[in-house]
Amino acid sequence: MSKFFVHPDITEAETLPAAFYRSQEVFEALREKVFTRTWQWIGDAHTLIPLPESVYPLHLLDNYLTEPMLLVRDAEDDIRCLSNVCTHRGNIIRQHPGKSRQLICAYHGRRWNLDGSFKSMPEFKEAKNFPRPCDSLHQFPLRKWGDHLFVGLEPGFDFTEVIKVMEERVGFLPLREFKLDPVSSKDYLVNCHWALYCDNYLEGFHIPFVHEGLNKLLDYGQYTTKLYDHLNLQIGYAESGEQSFDLPEGHPDYGREVGAYYYWVFPNLMFNFYPWGLSVNVVKPISMNKTKVSFITYMWREETMSEEASALMDKVEREDEFVVEGVHRGLKSRYYRAGRFSPTREQGVHHFHRLLAQYLDA
Ligand code: FES
Ligand SMILES: [Fe+2]
Repeated sequence: MSKFFVHPDITEAETLPAAFYRSQEVFEALREKVFTRTWQWIGDAHTLIPLPESVYPLHLLDNYLTEPMLLVRDAEDDIRCLSNVCTHRGNIIRQHPGKSRQLICAYHGRRWNLDGSFKSMPEFKEAKNFPRPCDSLHQFPLRKWGDHLFVGLEPGFDFTEVIKVMEERVGFLPLREFKLDPVSSKDYLVNCHWALYCDNYLEGFHIPFVHEGLNKLLDYGQYTTKLYDHLNLQIGYAESGEQSFDLPEGHPDYGREVGAYYYWVFPNLMFNFYPWGLSVNVVKPISMNKTKVSFITYMWREETMSEEASALMDKVEREDEFVVEGVHRGLKSRYYRAGRFSPTREQGVHHFHRLLAQYLDA
């Protein structure tokens, strides 16, 4: 696989080349080198495992990462993410969510406690050097932000850093009061490489060209991108008279009219905070040419979320789909190799490309 290099200086850098988005080999390498080394949002604890002693089997990103996992809440309300694979001969332990005092493999009856530690196994009295530590269940790294849960296979950074950065600006919001709203949550299927969907999200440059409705609400001149290690933030300042956050004194943006905070976490997570609540967007690779984007809505002040605002969110997404699918087809051209970045408007895309090149190289 050819190495990718993205110059650290945006004024000199070229974008990732078209070959990046066209290669099956790169698509596979991204799964192994990027997705297994980063974090995924899996949902909120209240929805997935509402009660003590409950379990919830899952696969990250709709099984794009084919690793059977089991989310567990024990009697003390401690939450863990364990391997859902039996340490005897590899059977899947739990097929369905539900209540459970302990974990039992239905194949030959091996048992574990809800913290994943080995408990018992029939017909193993004579087995020497048993149980070993590896007969307990593997535990995956898990972080909590409010009720939101994040897990990874072997993340190359700590999600606590990400939470710290997000808290600087949205920490004043009562995240635990935000309620999942399944009715306004939605999946979109897009005919493009997943990274193109992120590229587009990461710049507000296209807003005046592509999103006429959204452009009326935001002050394009003030639109700002801030970069951090594994995340970045776009701040959409509201046009005067449009809805904005009621920021407390001492807030970094106190005195300004902020209409939205758009946080992106490498490589595929988006946390969009609006005065009415939060829209989590998860970009899920399906194939090189197909991506599912899940919009998950968490309502806080439902009364400030007008029907128009909700219709606009859907319209903006369709407009994004249209341009991103256009790019996906354009990148198959014989005559397009790579582009350049606007130093003032595409810092977020440059940041993403730098991280991709770096992770693929590692
Ligand atoms: S495979 Fe689970 S007990 Fe045998
Ligand atoms: Fe857009």
